[in-house]
Amino acid sequence: MTTTLHPSKTATKAGAAKPVAVSAAYFESPVGTDVHVIEWVARIAAITQPDEVVWCDGSAAEFDRITKLLVDQGTLIRLNPEHRPFSFLARSDPSDVARVEDRTFICSERSEDAGPTNNWVAPAEMRTTLNELFQGSMIGRTMYVVPFSMGPLGSPFSKLGVQVTDSPYVVANLRIMTRMGSDALSRIRGSVEWVPAVHSVGAPLGPGQQDVPWPCNPTKYISHFPETREIWSYGSAYGGNAILAKKSFALRIASVMARDEGWLAEHMLILRVTSPKGRTMHVAAAFPSACGKTNFAMLTPSIPGWTVETIGDDIAWIRQGPDGRLRAINPEAGFFGVAPGTGPKTNPNAVDMLWGNTIFTNVALRDDGDVWWEGLSKVAPDNLTDWRGEAWSPSSDSPAAHPNSRFTVAADQCPSIADDWQHPDGVVIDAIIFGGRRASNVPLVVEARDWNHGVFLGATISSEQTAAAEGTVGELRRDPFAMLPFCGYNMADYWQHWLDVGKTLRASAKVPRIFQVNWFRTADDGSFLWPGFGENARVLEWIMNRVDGQVGAKETALGYVPTDTGLNIEGIEDVDLEQLFAIDRDAWLAESDDTEGFFGTFGDKVPAELYGQLETLRKKLRASN
Ligand code: OXD
Ligand code: MN
Repeated sequence: MTTTLHPSKTATKAGAAKPVAVSAAYFESPVGTDVHVIEWVARIAAITQPDEVVWCDGSAAEFDRITKLLVDQGTLIRLNPEHRPFSFLARSDPSDVARVEDRTFICSERSEDAGPTNNWVAPAEMRTTLNELFQGSMIGRTMYVVPFSMGPLGSPFSKLGVQVTDSPYVVANLRIMTRMGSDALSRIRGSVEWVPAVHSVGAPLGPGQQDVPWPCNPTKYISHFPETREIWSYGSAYGGNAILAKKSFALRIASVMARDEGWLAEHMLILRVTSPKGRTMHVAAAFPSACGKTNFAMLTPSIPGWTVETIGDDIAWIRQGPDGRLRAINPEAGFFGVAPGTGPKTNPNAVDMLWGNTIFTNVALRDDGDVWWEGLSKVAPDNLTDWRGEAWSPSSDSPAAHPNSRFTVAADQCPSIADDWQHPDGVVIDAIIFGGRRASNVPLVVEARDWNHGVFLGATISSEQTAAAEGTVGELRRDPFAMLPFCGYNMADYWQHWLDVGKTLRASAKVPRIFQVNWFRTADDGSFLWPGFGENARVLEWIMNRVDGQVGAKETALGYVPTDTGLNIEGIEDVDLEQLFAIDRDAWLAESDDTEGFFGTFGDKVPAELYGQLETLRKKLRASN
């Protein structure tokens, strides 16, 4: 880390360790830093006017310094090392606890390129707003310059970025979530593309003003400029609003890059499943937030002899390899997972993974200096302090941990992480899964008839509203490809892009199979029809058998489903397969009308192919029964 307050000089072409003056702040960049990075940092510092500029090198020593600073200033509480070594608890401001979708903007030149599912503001107008907001926004604070790589350094899939931020808490999270530091910075040279991301909590400090543990601002803007590939985020220090490498870069900006360059940036986990015979298969799976995605990525199979290894739990960058097959990497280096609901039954690998080296945010604190959240154990320990810092007991009328409380932990720490999860060439994807949280209508598993039908399934998935985003929990919302809050351009154009990728894959005859799953179907009494968790491996077994042509399937109006004996339910014979796979024709015809209404919101942009798929569905439904 280079921290220098220096007399005034200016950047030179060589960009080598020349002190730069920017109003109040002076800095000396690391030797060899690309001149464009230096100029950009100088420009942002001139606007935001931090007291000093710190270039992060990504070292362990730097992480220690930053966490110590955060402990000293009250942002982090060091947990009892006997229970959670090298771990911390952060409590956010109660107003800053989740992604703010209504304050997230796609500022493309044309509104139709953002589409009806994104908030759009013209770039010039947004720049005027941001220029005002960021003016002096870092006064009294340090601006950290955080270079990072999404994807393994040097992988053909990987992309570089630099985030500046006035939040050391964000820096600590970025160190876990990305390949951050000098190696990434040294790869930014000349014409090498990198994404600039500007972040400020929007809480300048006047002379002598006492800081608060979680500075933020009630005004929030999470703004993306897809044409210039820039991110500007103001007012929040929480998760996806502030760790800009994640949702903002790896999904919103990357989806635009992917459209332009012919690949896919997806809200998908990646896992490897291995059968008792040693056959391995890789799956990429899209689930909306809070549908058990991390649990599925780290699944412990209930069926003997099967193993699941984790490659990624949230984001996949997928492109055609030289052999024509789709290959995927996880661009992240860590997991920023939802804590509540993570327990020994739902996700034993995650519980083990969180033994130490973890930043927890907004979970409850035990009186022995360890942490707790709902779902970690059946019975809450005595004497808890809740996420707001107040005494809590089971009779309290709100949860001890915030429903969107999080852990940030290195992927390497996960017991189920695949040895080669960082392979620069990624893994070959055999199957793609779309999931949602549906109490009714959607069977446990359905196989698409072909790629285009799969795109239709992805485009029409819906889920209940989650705690990760704002909104009414429990409300059903359409979440195409689980990308609703994350697609950096018009969703209908994104569907066309998926159809186009299918065309390219067909040309090389290497098309992965597509499936839809639903773990959440309920019986009339509201109980779940499927036990879920480790038993979901049975669905993976069926998918593998289908990919390998080992089992037949029943054709239905929705696609292929297992034959009466196709799904291995040995040991869980009491599941009601009939209800799990029931297709209610009238309910589906009604859902088709709803889909037509949903497509209608995109005007004439919806690919004709998807309307064709909808008509085929209706025809098949009418012909059924
Ligand atoms: C997340 C999400 O991963 O909201 O945080 O999807
Ligand atoms: Mn996610």
